[in-house]
Amino acid sequence: MTAGFVIAVDGPAAAGKGTLARALADAYSLPYLDTGLLYRAVARRVLDAGLRPEDAAEEAALRLVPEDMQRNDLRVPEVDRAASIVAAQPAVRAALLERQRVFGREGGAVVDGRDIGTVVFPDAPVKLFITASSQIRAMRRHNQLNVGVELEGAALEAAIAEIESRDTRDSQRDVAPLCPADDALTINTDGMSAAEVFQKACDYIALRRS
Ligand code: CDP
Ligand code: CDP
Repeated sequence: MTAGFVIAVDGPAAAGKGTLARALADAYSLPYLDTGLLYRAVARRVLDAGLRPEDAAEEAALRLVPEDMQRNDLRVPEVDRAASIVAAQPAVRAALLERQRVFGREGGAVVDGRDIGTVVFPDAPVKLFITASSQIRAMRRHNQLNVGVELEGAALEAAIAEIESRDTRDSQRDVAPLCPADDALTINTDGMSAAEVFQKACDYIALRRS
């Protein structure tokens, strides 16, 4: 892969960004960066300090160390919510921007998040916007965490509402809102397996490189 080749993978929660990005990183021998972990780690620090995610969180973002992103309590519902609240703060986003750019600049990378193709790497040669209906995404996230337990009725409705409220916060914030870059390929993954999404992405990458 060409030096500095960045594949940007954006989209809403539980659409399959991480699954695709990891498979692409493997296939093209590129490092993978999950930028959601940065925002989750900031939220974790804020909550652990007894602060509210609405409080100024720049300090927490500036103090992040690699171990913060390796904690095993970053993918819990209170952090899902808090991450999307701290992520709306311009000072938090500014504090994390260069860290993300340095990662991709040297040897290239597959980077997943919300604003990778629009803000972090606006010149990335490949931009993918991975999406799916909120119902499918709620079920995917549930199945990921509760193998073998059916999600239905009121619990399904609550999971959909949770995912939609995060979508709204992420797409309506003033700074770096979630939206496809003008030059992104959008893949609606409803009814597609992870393998089918991967194949479609690889075909597109081959086209972009030819
Ligand atoms: O990174 P993001 O939150 O966008 O989603 P993910 O963690 O990659 O995917 C959420 C779940 O959906 C995982 O368990 C994937 O295996 C699953 N998935 C799927 O069922 N079908 C797809 N086309 C893509 C992902
Ligand atoms: O895995 P999932 O898609 O559920 O979430 P994530 O990618 O770990 O991101 C958690 C939260 O961080 C998102 O809801 C966004 O508010 C924020 N985020 C962001 O604002 N910009 C990014 N590049 C990545 C994540």
